[in-house]
Amino acid sequence: MSSTDSLEELVARAKEARSKAYAPYSRFQVGAALRTASGKIYRGCNVENASYGLSMCAERIAVFKAVCAGDSQLEELAVVSETMAAPCGACRQVLAEFGLEATVIIADLGERRRITTVSDLVPFAFTPSSLTCGESETG
Ligand code: THU
Repeated sequence: MSSTDSLEELVARAKEARSKAYAPYSRFQVGAALRTASGKIYRGCNVENASYGLSMCAERIAVFKAVCAGDSQLEELAVVSETMAAPCGACRQVLAEFGLEATVIIADLGERRRITTVSDLVPFAFTPSSLTCGESETG
């Protein structure tokens, strides 16, 4: 189980990331920070575009940075927004790919927190093992 201290550190990192959000269209700034099995922390903020549909969420940017660093085993994720918003459906699916058992802490800019897991956010998840009919993931 994740300790409160390690999750609060992630919330602090996610707040830092949120301050870098590029959200001139929605004006809704989101920050994310995740810790992988290696212990490293990766941050992300939402990055919008004048072609609105190309905008990217904070959580997916953090995950993609970790994967690109060859460090993809997600253990803990914090997401911070003014309204304590939960990860969107697309982000939940991406999180499930890299850490179905990961702890997720959803925070506002103050002291409000909700702690859950990726598997609770994505019941009956479609995962890499869904592609292999009865085979082991390594086989
Ligand atoms: N957003 C995120 O960064 N993460 C989510 O899980 C939900 C939404 C961003 C996308 C967009 O830039 C803004 O919030 C408003 O939807």
